[in-house]
Amino acid sequence: MAVTCQCGGERTRKLEALLDRYRGQPQALIQVLHQAQEIYGYLPREVLKKVSLALNVPLSQVYGVVSFYSFFTIHPKGRHRISVCKGTACYVRGAEQLLEHLREELRIKPGETTADGEFSLEVVRCLGACGLGPVIMVDEDVHARVMPERIPDILSAYRS
Ligand code: FES
Repeated sequence: MAVTCQCGGERTRKLEALLDRYRGQPQALIQVLHQAQEIYGYLPREVLKKVSLALNVPLSQVYGVVSFYSFFTIHPKGRHRISVCKGTACYVRGAEQLLEHLREELRIKPGETTADGEFSLEVVRCLGACGLGPVIMVDEDVHARVMPERIPDILSAYRS
């Protein structure tokens, strides 16, 4: 028997309920975008259009808010999320070279996701492990004192 994924319909239902709650309330834009991103994991174009219509906010203004705040993303997240710390302690210990290697290895820039949906890359300011820099996090795992040559091994441990 074929099993059909119901997750798309479920997300649509949740979004419609959210929009019904805030219909005609432009001041609720950021709150609605937050919750929409929780539902989808990112903010697809179709969702932004629906938010614009429901809250009566021009689409250009919705995009303006989404691009202003770094916690909003219009790109789907990968199965594994890589965070590179570029806080001061990590920066002086080579975070920039580390990021460069990750960019080359994954062929994406921060804020993007690999074509196979495996990894997304982001830059953060401090991961609270300054003495262990340079530090990257993959999902919930902290990798300390990472040298660029270790990157292929680290990535292959997460590839499915
Ligand atoms: S500066 Fe990188 S963990 Fe704090």
